[in-house]
Amino acid sequence: MTPDASEFIRANLAPEPVPGFADIRLFSAHPGSGLTRIAGDRTPYWAYAWPGGIALAGHFGAHPDCVAGKRVLDLGAGSGLVGIAAAKAGARTVICSEIDPGGRAAIALNSEVNGVIVEIADDVTEAGVPDVDLVAAGDTFYNPAVAKRVLAYLRMCAAQGAEVLIGDIGRKDLPIAELEPVAAYSTREFGDGPNAPRRQSFVYRLA
Ligand SMILES: C[S@@+](CC[C@H](N)C(=O)[O-])C[C@H]1O[C@@H](n2cnc3c(N)ncnc32)[C@H](O)[C@@H]1O
Repeated sequence: MTPDASEFIRANLAPEPVPGFADIRLFSAHPGSGLTRIAGDRTPYWAYAWPGGIALAGHFGAHPDCVAGKRVLDLGAGSGLVGIAAAKAGARTVICSEIDPGGRAAIALNSEVNGVIVEIADDVTEAGVPDVDLVAAGDTFYNPAVAKRVLAYLRMCAAQGAEVLIGDIGRKDLPIAELEPVAAYSTREFGDGPNAPRRQSFVYRLA
């Protein structure tokens, strides 16, 4: 039987500080966490902080004015890092949308451990655009099929008046011609060890 995701995360992962963030901890993968027992065939994206999300979260911490008082959708939330950073920076409301049930369990635990309240939603891309001011998508251009679906949805969000910010380290499916750079942050690529060279990860606005 597949263990309950929430119980599994509590039992096998511990909230660890996210490098570069003094005030955010996430239940994160480690060599002994045995994630295949709940992730199965899915990649447990939610057990890691991705460089695109780190750039967005860092941006909200450095420029809280860009998020304070706003209704925010964190699309492809993974661990919930971006939504948690938005809430900490003063967002009025935050929805974290994540297609993976393990991710939704992690977001619930991560928001609790960071002392913020977020609404947790499954895939919203078929459900229209919620009433939000800002949509933030951290590292959602990681494969062509997801990139195509996410881009169509983000265009719809922008057409309906939401500001759309994307965090990305320069993945090949990023629609760079449609983006305006906003800021750059020094990050590590997923899977790089502590001695690997740091790389720039960017915050972009969908034009
Ligand atoms: C590479 S992870 C990035 C997670 C997080 N934003 C970060 O930067 O750390 C991308 C996430 O998008 C999620 N995802 C993919 N398609 C989605 C969809 N249609 N709706 C919601 N989440 C989706 C995946 O399950 C995955 O957790």
